[in-house]
Amino acid sequence: MDPLPLTTGSFSLSCDGVLVSAEASYDTASRTATLTPDFPLPADVTCTATVASSATDVSGMFPVSEFAWAFDTTVDAALVEQGKEIFRFDTFGDETLWTDTLRMHEVIRSAVDPTTALSVGLKVDAAALPEAVVAGIQDGSISLTDPATTVALLKLDAVVGVKGTVESISGEDTLTRVGITCALCHSTVDDSFAPGIGQRLDGWPNRDLDPGAIIALSPALSAEQKAVYSSWGPGMYDPRFNLDGINSPHVITPAYGLKGLRSITSTGDGDKIAYWNRYVAVTQMGGHGTFLDDRTGVSVVNGSEDLVTDKLPALQEYQLTLEAPPPPAGSFDPEAAARGEALFNGTARCASCHSGPEFTDANERLHEPSEVVSEPEPNGAPSYASRSATGRYRTAPLKGVWQHPPYFHNGTAVTLEDVVRTYDSRLALGLSDSDISDLAEYLRSL
Ligand code: HEC
Ligand code: HEC
Repeated sequence: MDPLPLTTGSFSLSCDGVLVSAEASYDTASRTATLTPDFPLPADVTCTATVASSATDVSGMFPVSEFAWAFDTTVDAALVEQGKEIFRFDTFGDETLWTDTLRMHEVIRSAVDPTTALSVGLKVDAAALPEAVVAGIQDGSISLTDPATTVALLKLDAVVGVKGTVESISGEDTLTRVGITCALCHSTVDDSFAPGIGQRLDGWPNRDLDPGAIIALSPALSAEQKAVYSSWGPGMYDPRFNLDGINSPHVITPAYGLKGLRSITSTGDGDKIAYWNRYVAVTQMGGHGTFLDDRTGVSVVNGSEDLVTDKLPALQEYQLTLEAPPPPAGSFDPEAAARGEALFNGTARCASCHSGPEFTDANERLHEPSEVVSEPEPNGAPSYASRSATGRYRTAPLKGVWQHPPYFHNGTAVTLEDVVRTYDSRLALGLSDSDISDLAEYLRSL
């Protein structure tokens, strides 16, 4: 074939109907055309490769007609496993921020005992605790009011989302570096051992975590900065404050249930998860690498090496395996939920936006803030959407919604009943009290 016209224009791949971003090349010696996707193909989908008739042979003759073939993809278990490690344990070198700049290691080793750590929502992975430690916690011989115990837990890699380097200095275990991982905000535990201590639940938002209160412990911040961070409260984090200076925190969202969505974040800023993973890793966690987006003008370069880019494919592959948790058995009344379902699809008009298997129209469109009932923002802040790349909101996917109150991007609805009441009054739906509770019951069943 002629290598020149063999480009992504003539050789392309789409998976589940979506064009895959890739590079095309042709090796004349082996007479092999290769299409290399920028990202691993999504798992469990059907993909179609197409060679268009604009790809010609060396004599310039057109091939007879377009040529296409299809294949199915599977989950790459090794890549998923790698992604899980990254999600749980990789700091992308962000110790530069959390240790060198914010000096959190000094605060933790001198003032953060396990009781304090648990009170700001940090979680302990019970699976990482050796039997002797479990026994010591149970019989009280290991103190939960001594910062040295926190250092011991960090040495065991048992504090979810916090990665510490513990070195022996003058015979004493000393925390010398600390960084954070994705699991800090997007994992919690099942409390099976004690409140805050249990098995990891990756993808579940940690709504007990008070990131602002933790950051405010840093001795490197001004009183003014500390006041902003201290104002956020548990389960809230503003992932744009350090860039635009506006203080209006967002709920910490689930990182599960994203498979099939081509619109990431509550404002649909990215068409794939990796877009936002890079954003957070570089601009929020302080990982080494670069993030650029012309739409918002955000341009951040940390360090001289890139510790982020290579990890994005595995990280995304792992996130795609995280499913929304089904409602616990007996947690909702099926008859009320069935009545709620009829309202959802009928007179309450919820399904006009919350449509399809993920209960969202996010793959087709975003919505203007004026259509969305969660605005205005509390405390007079400008619209969260106006601070984003799209200026609009994505209809929230609803699977597993029972699991993560409060609701809406700004957490203004405390319960699912509050959500429905907000829609009822803002859209003048004329729902009765029993309609409202039926709809909330339906939402609890998703
Ligand atoms: C300090 C807390 C925090 C950390 C650490 C954090 N995130 Fe998030 N994450 C958030 C918040 C808050 C949002 C909501 C942002 C929005 O929707 O505008 C979010 C949103 C997301 C989303 C979008 C979910 C959706 O519904 O589209 C993904 C994916 C995500 N984070 C992945 C990650 C990954 C991967 C990491 C590690 C590289 C990470 N996050 C680290 C707080 C955090
Ligand atoms: C015009 C489109 C539209 C309609 C109609 C609509 N929604 Fe929504 N819904 C959205 C958008 C957009 C969001 C995200 C808002 C935000 O994050 O602040 C959302 C958020 C939600 C949430 C919060 C999810 C979360 O993760 O916090 C729930 C629950 C919900 N809607 C239920 C309903 C119900 C019930 C109805 C019908 C009474 C309904 N919606 C009608 C677009 C719509």
